[in-house]
Amino acid sequence: MMDTKEWALIDSHEQTTKLQEIAATLQAGNVVAFPTETVYGLGADATNEQAVDKIFKAKGRPQDNPLIAHVATKEDLAKLVDAYPPYVDQLIDSFSPGPITYILPSNGTCAENVTAGLSTVGVRIPSHPVAQAILQTCSFPIAAPSANTSGKPSPTTAAHVKEDLFGKIAGIVDGGKTGVGMESTIIDCTSDVPIILRPGGITKEQIYTVVGDVIEHQPSTHTSEKPQAPGMKYTHYAPDVPLTLVHGNAERLQQVIHAYQNEHLRVGVLARAQLKEHIQADQFIPLGTNLVEVATNLYSCLRRFSSHDIDVIVCETFPKENIGVAIMNRLEKAATKIIK
Ligand code: TXA
Ligand code: MG
Repeated sequence: MMDTKEWALIDSHEQTTKLQEIAATLQAGNVVAFPTETVYGLGADATNEQAVDKIFKAKGRPQDNPLIAHVATKEDLAKLVDAYPPYVDQLIDSFSPGPITYILPSNGTCAENVTAGLSTVGVRIPSHPVAQAILQTCSFPIAAPSANTSGKPSPTTAAHVKEDLFGKIAGIVDGGKTGVGMESTIIDCTSDVPIILRPGGITKEQIYTVVGDVIEHQPSTHTSEKPQAPGMKYTHYAPDVPLTLVHGNAERLQQVIHAYQNEHLRVGVLARAQLKEHIQADQFIPLGTNLVEVATNLYSCLRRFSSHDIDVIVCETFPKENIGVAIMNRLEKAATKIIK
């Protein structure tokens, strides 16, 4: 067990001492979890291979899955990459700082294990005030995957990080609940037309308004010559209880719930709050009332189901538009069964 230090940085102002302590901890080659506007990240100095290696160990993350390098500004981003297509500037100027990660040609500044040996590097400028304050205090980029044990739902509170990583990392910065709740959009910017590799906080509809030409990576078409985000092949977001995703209305959900209950299974339901009065189950956890709230709450709700109380989670589906695309991407990965 490692001694995990905790810093509360709910408000980043007037917290210079704590920020310097956090920066010094990172500078010394240690791993620290911190809030971003999407999910909590597990950070280390991206130029220090041994420090980055500690991230992989703490998370149990496969070595061939590259990490995102976080920087404070566009100028800092430029220090990590080689020449990129002109549309990237338009994207950065429109969406960064914010929940979007650009896959760009690497200039080799980040350690080899950040990029998993690829010639590209993923770079993101987070907008969260605490993430910004930490990055501005450090003189190096911070490599950070989501701060969960590999395979688990991503953490949206410091308590989630503690659940997975307490005793395994040097510190946790508590900045309260994250906002967006879904990870950043990953966009491959290494060719003439950008490709969305992972849907996330910045929607394809938003990207279309800036660059008319953008390709959505289709997981089912393996003929594409471009590499997909290596992380997409691994199990993700799995709650402790198996999850069944059900296409259809409340009535259809109720049929599925009854079928499970007839098999003597205890059923937990994950759905919008307005469905509660139409559903009878052993447990009901409301996700919120609209897509934005569902995105914000999804991971924490997934973590609330326990195998002590529930044998199966039944979850409704959402329209694949705006942030709904990211929500459905995560739910389809979390699900052990999908009923059409
Ligand atoms: O919102 C986020 O993106 C959060 C916060 C902490 O910034 N981070 C995050 O990191 O979600 P992670 O490691 O959980 O997901 C990063 C994804 C992985 O699927 C990885 O394979 C992909 O980004 N990736 C990283 N570098 C890449 C590269 N050079 N080429 C293709 N995919 C890359
Ligand atoms: Mg992750």
